[in-house]
Order: sequence, then C-alpha cells, then structure tokens
Amino acid sequence: MTTVTPFVGTPRSRVDGRAKVTGAARYAAEFDAPDLAHGWVVSSAVARGRIARIDTDAAMAMPGVLKIFTHENRPRTAWFDYKHRDQTAPPGHPFRPLYSDTILHSGQPIALVVAETLDIARDAASLVRVLYETEEHATDLAARRDTAYVPPKKRSGIKPPPKPRGDAPGAFTSAPVQVRQESRVPAEYHNPMEPHAATVVWKGKDGIVVHDKTQGAQNSQSYIASVFGLSPSKVQVVAPFVGGAFGSGLRPQYQVFLAVMAALELERSVRVSLTRDQMFTFGHRPETLQIVTLGAGRDGKLVSVQHDAVAETSRLEDYQEVVVNWSGLLYRCDNVALTYRLAQLDVSTPCDMRAPGATIGVFALEIAMDELAHATGIDPVELRLRNHTDRDQNEDKPFTSKELRACYAKGAERFGWSKRKPAPRSMREGSELVGYGFATGVWEAMMMKSSARATLTPDGRLTVATATADIGTGTYTILTQIAADALGVPMEKVTTLIGDSSLPTSPIEGGSWAAASSGAAVDAACRSVRDALIGLARGLEDSPLANIDPDRVTVRDGRVFLTADPDQGLAIDAVMAASGVDKIELEETVLPDPKTMLTHAAYTHSAVFAEVRVDEELGIVRVTRVVNAVAAGRILNPKTARSQILGGVVMGIGMALEEEALHDHKLGRVMNHNFAEYHIPVNADVPDIDVLFVEEHDDKVSPLGVKGLGEIGIVGTAAAIANAIFHATGKRVNDLPITVDKLL
Ligand code: MOS
Repeated sequence: MTTVTPFVGTPRSRVDGRAKVTGAARYAAEFDAPDLAHGWVVSSAVARGRIARIDTDAAMAMPGVLKIFTHENRPRTAWFDYKHRDQTAPPGHPFRPLYSDTILHSGQPIALVVAETLDIARDAASLVRVLYETEEHATDLAARRDTAYVPPKKRSGIKPPPKPRGDAPGAFTSAPVQVRQESRVPAEYHNPMEPHAATVVWKGKDGIVVHDKTQGAQNSQSYIASVFGLSPSKVQVVAPFVGGAFGSGLRPQYQVFLAVMAALELERSVRVSLTRDQMFTFGHRPETLQIVTLGAGRDGKLVSVQHDAVAETSRLEDYQEVVVNWSGLLYRCDNVALTYRLAQLDVSTPCDMRAPGATIGVFALEIAMDELAHATGIDPVELRLRNHTDRDQNEDKPFTSKELRACYAKGAERFGWSKRKPAPRSMREGSELVGYGFATGVWEAMMMKSSARATLTPDGRLTVATATADIGTGTYTILTQIAADALGVPMEKVTTLIGDSSLPTSPIEGGSWAAASSGAAVDAACRSVRDALIGLARGLEDSPLANIDPDRVTVRDGRVFLTADPDQGLAIDAVMAASGVDKIELEETVLPDPKTMLTHAAYTHSAVFAEVRVDEELGIVRVTRVVNAVAAGRILNPKTARSQILGGVVMGIGMALEEEALHDHKLGRVMNHNFAEYHIPVNADVPDIDVLFVEEHDDKVSPLGVKGLGEIGIVGTAAAIANAIFHATGKRVNDLPITVDKLL
C-alpha cells in the first residue's frame, strides 16, 4: 500500500503551472466567441471640463465599424444599488463610463468604437474628433494639501485611525530625543502582466458569459447585474486565470462595463481590451504625503508617536486605506496621535495596490525609526526590540500570535547583520559605498466567510469548487493540497475549480485572506465528504467497518479502513457501489470565529534586511541582497509561499528605486504611461532574495492556522532599502523613488 504524505506544509509546484507556460490557460482577452466584435476605447485628452462636441461621422463611415458609443447615444443603464454590489467600493459615487459630457480626469473613457476587427476599431477610433470645454484642474497633491479633509464616511472594512491616546504632542516636546520625518510616496499605477480586458459572449435569451479580468467573479457578476438591470441568472462571469492583479481587479473596471454595454446593445459577442497606456487611466496607489514625529528617551524607548498622512482621492469617491494606524500598533507607546486625511484631485479614483496603506504608512514610520536609531546610537534592530509590544495598543487586545522577535533574530543571523558598522558611510568596497538597512513589516491576517463544494466519485476523484480567484498567488495549488490531505488522495486525483461566479460563494481574492478563507472552506467540505463516506461504510452490513466508531477509521489511498488494522477496509468505489451512491457531494461554509475577532488582533509580521551598493560618484544604487524573515502562521506550501514573498520584495524594490507616475500638472496627465518610461524592476535589478518563514503556531487566527502571504512581502521593503541607502551614503531620501538625482 502506498502512503500519501501530507501535502500541506510541503513544497509543491503549481498545479496550473503547465497550463500557464504552455498557453493552455486562457485569460480574459483570449476567450473566443463566434462572430466576435472588437471594441477600442477613446480616452479624454483633458483632465477636467466637458465634451462640447464629439464627431464620430468619419469613424462611422469606415467599413466594418458597427457602432460608436458615446454619452450621446449610450443605452440606458440601471445603476441599481451600486454600492452594495461592489464589495470594495469606497463611499461616494462610482465612476459611470459614458454617463454624461463631464470630464473628470485625463484618460477617462469617452467613446467606445466597436468594429468587425480590432484593427478597424483602432483605426476608426483615431478619426473620432472631440471638442472640449476645459476647466481648471488640479493634479498636484502638495498644492492641494491645505484642502485635506477627514473623510466623513469610512470605507467598509477599513479601520479609521484610533482615537489619540495619552498626550503625544506634550510628550514629544519634553522628549530627550526628537525625530521628524516628512516623506512622500508617489502615485504608482497598476501594471500587471495581463492588461485589463473583458470578452463578453452573447448567448441570446440565455444571457451573457463574461470573461473579465477580475479578482472576484461574483463581484463582477453582481456589478454587471445591478448596473445593467439584469437577473444574476443571466450573467455568468468566468475568469479561471488572472495574469496578476495586485488589487487592480478588486473593483470592476471600465472595460467590463463597456464590453457588456456593447454586447447587450448589439446582441453580439464583444471584446474590449485596454492598451498598456490605458492601464494608466484608472486605479492606482494614491500619492501620499506624510509626517512622522517620534519622541524617545535616550534608551530609545518611544514616549511619543505622531503620524499624519494626506492622500489623494478623486472628486467622486473618498478612497481610503489604512495608512497611519500601523504607527500606533507596531511598537509600544503610551502617547500616540494619528491623523489621516484626503485631498481631491482631478484624477481617477485610487484603488488598492498590494498591502494598500501599509506599504505607505510603514515606510514613513520605519524611516523615522531608522533616524531614531541613528539619533540615539542604538542598533536599528535593538531599537525595535526595546519597543516591542505583545499587545495591540490601538485596540487594547492581545495578538493571536506574534513571532516578530524571531523574525528579527533569524533574519539578522541569515543576513549577517552583526557585520554592520554603525556609522553611515563607514562601509565601502572599491568605488561603491555599502549600506545595510532594516525595517519591520506588518499586515493584517484576515479571514472571510467562504463556501466550498466537494464532490467525490467512485473512481476516487475529488473535485472541489469555490468562486475565489487565483491571481497568481498559488490558490489552485494550496486548495488542491488541502483537499488531497482531507481525503487522503494524491493531488493528481483532485480537480480544483475556481474563478467562476456560478461556484459556491466566496469573497474577492484580496487582502491576503484567500488561503485562510477558501482554504478552510475547502477543508470543511472535504471533511464532510469524508465523514459521509465513513458513514456509508459503517452502514454496510457484512462490512469490516459496520458500526465502527468513526474515530477509528482512516480514509486514504482510495480506501476506507480501520486505522489500527489497515487490512480491514474497503475501496471507495466498493463502498459507493454497495451503498448505491454515484457521488458524494457536499457544500460547507466557514466563518471567522466571532469571539476571537472581538478579543484578539491578528497580524502577519516580517523583518526585512537589505544591502545596497551606491556608486559614490554616479549615485547609482544597486540592491545586492535582501533577507525577508516572515511570521505568517502555518505555511501551506513553502514553494508558492516563497514566491509570494519574492514578488512582494521585487515590487518593494520598484517602490524604493523606480516606480512613479510623473504628472505634467499643466496638462493634468500622466506623462510616463508606458514601460519605457514608467520603470519597474527587471531581472538585472533583482538581487539574491532570501526568504525565511519563522515558526509561528496560531490556533486562533483561522481554522487552518493560516495567516496569508500575498501582501506582507512588500511591506517594509522600501524602508529597508531607504535605510540601507542612508547607511551607505549618509543621505536621507524620504521622497520615493530614490533616483540618482536625489543622491547627487
Ligand atoms: Mo490585494 S491589494 O487586496 O489584491
């Protein structure tokens, strides 16, 4: 008899890896349909004002053009109950494409040209003439800082800053050591490998099947149904593969609106695919201006923490994220004051981008902590240890688990932190200054209500299904591992179905909660199937398992048998045949434990160590090593887990050194809307990255003890690099990205 080892906890290659590298995996713009028409989006050339005239005659005259949709001829839409239909909408009014002549931001879609082929649509789009009446616009956040306001309504799921505790300003004034860091994180635009696209397949009276780029098929489905006033039964969203998303696919974006609108009107299948430059016309990480002041004793112990952030939002919505709360959470301090405000610009509404808020806020806090280490002469890691807390002081709760000190110790050891000479500019090699930098990372460990279905057939095949997505994180793989373990079958015997709105209810894949949530749902459904199978076996007369205590029974290797005597048992197919059952199919729903949610705080933590080399004369920075030590509860798959941290670190390198949407404020427009000018790390920019998972046992955070890993890898990385650059050069650059011009 072969013994199947537990799959959970072991490194496993992606079950969808082959499909992805061979092209068998289909993405939103790759689904085909008979008689498919193609849309091309025309974008606004101005940032604010109205469309005085839009002339589509020349474009319409082109053979092959089917229709040009503008605000003047768009079909009526329902826009029912929108806010309850998009799980991640912030307070305000959502953007409604082609709704009126009003221009709200540069790049706003103002027309959709639909034609027989993509080439005709694109060519015709170039013939659309638009006359604008412009109004004065604002895209410069610094110039609008005075207009910042506290958002009157909070975004659901986003915690506003906690009330002040103690007397932070007073404690700062009397603190022996005072540090103040003003910093800026620029707008960063989402550019996953797969640009946003939607292919809408027209099925006549059966409705539509929509292949959308989305992190939540059901979120897209309810958006489409409510916006177009359709019965949800007529809208199926099928998105089995997502070519990266990082938050850009949480909210339904305008490509899906336009494609569905055109398909319903033309009664024909339609695809709308955005170009790379159009990826710079919607959701982005908001530019944020921050001031952190820290007061401490000479021993480095914090006596005052103040953190103020002003972030951009659009004129339509109060987009919010958790930016400043981390400064009241991460370290022990009795006097804390945190403020978070928004300023409106003539831009598209910002949106979540990998660890929204934390990447920004923790950057500001952790460069200030580095300054404090410098000012007190205390080693940066030692400084964090002296301020360690085992209680979330924002909410006055203990943590479900917090192995952050182990991250510090293991990370420092792996990195060789003890070789660091404390003084800036004290380490060099040839013409390069060498710097070691450090920062802490933190992210929420969330679990959401989720359902899953498991189906066992007599051939021993197990199919699990839940509507969640795999945005590149490895969800297919971990769900397959969990299912295989629950029924003791090899992973090859498991089929995992996700990314389809018709499957059991699941939240969007985001917030790093999918492993904890969908994982627990799949586990619960599979365990129920196993229990039902054992129940059948016990009910069979003449069976060696008749009326046996279920606790004494094991299901493994396609058999149900007595744990103490594996020979006493039956094959799954025999049990099912003898019971007259052709399948066992059960659905389960899991919830986070409501009591734990009230009594405990749940977070993942990390310690990020970075080495940089800076050419002294040219100011060129190379990140040469990164060690990221992570405490994230139980690790389901060390291989895919490591890949997520690698990806987060690479994105953090981009944040530190490269990524920035540069606006021409006179035009109110992003100038570098392409990969030639909007820089992200390429292979040559990515150093040796060492990922460590520290042991963290957590029996409270989620049923599987899982915390999630999608976001923690980026948090702290930019600060560790900025701190390394300070250590190398003695220059504190707090305006990201840290480009050559800022170092010379
Ligand atoms: Mo994430 S920003 O919740 O995809």
